[in-house]
Amino acid sequence: MAMQTTFAMLKPGVLQRRIVGEVLSRFERKGLNIVGLKVMTIPPVLATAHYAEHRGKSFYDGLIGYITSGPVVAMAIEGDDAIQLVRRMCGPTAVCESLPGTIRGDYCLHTNLNIIHSSDSAESAARELKLFFQPNEIVSWEDGNKNWY
Ligand code: PPS
Repeated sequence: MAMQTTFAMLKPGVLQRRIVGEVLSRFERKGLNIVGLKVMTIPPVLATAHYAEHRGKSFYDGLIGYITSGPVVAMAIEGDDAIQLVRRMCGPTAVCESLPGTIRGDYCLHTNLNIIHSSDSAESAARELKLFFQPNEIVSWEDGNKNWY
């Protein structure tokens, strides 16, 4: 196991649906540490940088339109194997493949509105954390309970 920090983001609509707390609570209860958190509206330049690898794909324009359509909640989440763990908690991209118990499986119906993003590799996590957070906006902390998770 390796201690990692990953990037995740609650997409537009999650604030309006008032389910931010429910989703964050899943990460907290799992024993992961939320070390960065902010509500922000993504400017187009940041959206295109974040999704650069998908430029040209059929869903790209819709994805940029969606992610810039309202405020998001950007998160830095720390813990053992956090990158893969958070991905698994989110569930697969395609909502019809996301099982109940995963965030996408429980909270969304359509893949193009799949409510949460999380980094898919250590390289993506480093790149995305840098895009969304200044170094002083990520704060590691100890809760003293780590032997209980
Ligand atoms: S792919 O096809 O392998 O490039 O897809 P993937 O890497 O899983 O996801 C690409 C991001 O685009 C979002 N998105 C869609 N993907 C596939 N199909 C459709 N229709 C679609 N609509 C949107 C998908 O959620 C990924 O963004 P994030 O932010 O990581 O969820």
